[in-house]
Amino acid sequence: MRLLLYLNQRTLRAVIVFAFSIFCIIGFGHVEPAFGKDDGVTSIFSPLAQPAQEIKETSLLVLAVCTVIFIVVAGLLVYALIRFRHRAGDEASEPPQVYGSNQIELAWTVLPVLIVFVLILVTSRTIANIQNRKPPQGTVHATIVGHQWWWEIRYPELGIVTANELHVPASDETGSRPTFLKLQSADVAHSFWVPQLAGKTDLIPNKENLMWIEPTKPGTYLGNCAEYCGTQHARMLIRVVVHTPDEFDHWVRDQQQATSVATNAAEGRKAFFANSCVNCHTIRGTSAQGKFGPDLTHLMSRETLAAGAAPNTTDNLRLWLRDPQRIKLGCLMPNMQLTDQEVDQMVAYLQTLK
Ligand code: CUA
Repeated sequence: MRLLLYLNQRTLRAVIVFAFSIFCIIGFGHVEPAFGKDDGVTSIFSPLAQPAQEIKETSLLVLAVCTVIFIVVAGLLVYALIRFRHRAGDEASEPPQVYGSNQIELAWTVLPVLIVFVLILVTSRTIANIQNRKPPQGTVHATIVGHQWWWEIRYPELGIVTANELHVPASDETGSRPTFLKLQSADVAHSFWVPQLAGKTDLIPNKENLMWIEPTKPGTYLGNCAEYCGTQHARMLIRVVVHTPDEFDHWVRDQQQATSVATNAAEGRKAFFANSCVNCHTIRGTSAQGKFGPDLTHLMSRETLAAGAAPNTTDNLRLWLRDPQRIKLGCLMPNMQLTDQEVDQMVAYLQTLK
């Protein structure tokens, strides 16, 4: 009786843990970002691009096979537990002892081997399809460098450098325009993951990884760094903005312009260049050529600050300059001890960087 009670408690606990895990997997897969007007979700179950679609199809096949195996094994287990349970009057007799059965042993060896073999073939085909893709005419090439804790994004052929928001064209009936990505890291291992577009790929120091994405639906897609990389790993968000081909070409032309010399924020400009901001940040067309932090040439074209940690608003920009640690504790931008006046002037200058 006591054993039964103990078993029941354990079973109950197991059921609760199992139910909670399922809730987490389904529930958290659809959690909206902390802020933003985005329609994007971070779910692998609603892919809107290749190769995410192909990966999902393979996953569903694997999931289906595993579900069938689970139902058969759990069903047999439950059947045996009930059918051969201990009954009153069983005490003295021992059940018949059976040693070996060629049929059963063959069955439970050959069947799993076949199942594993099929899964290996299907998975290999998917991996080969994805990895062996050659960039077609019209491909956009970008290099993404992981930093603690932000993403540097370069388009070497287009002469564009930006951060945290990757802009790509969508493929449509007029043609295929995938984006091929070279992934690198400036410090530790990171992982690029935008669930609706593709699987995860790591960014490893001293190694270059490759991946590609080919979305067909314009919109904003959200992703995270998926490899623990230090204090602010959780606030290393990435957005991929997918444009129609025309919009994308327009975006490229905007980004290629050097910043226009601001006439209305001379004080702020002076403050920016008098402080050590220039050692870490680049503003194209000026003497600011630092490489350690994000390129600020078109800062105001970005929706967020600090890799998605806060929306890019005047108030947040002010807070960020006053003390970056208030928005992103542990981030590598120091508190420059600016006065309120300097902060206001510098924000006015930064807001000219459109
Ligand atoms: Cu970068 Cu986690």
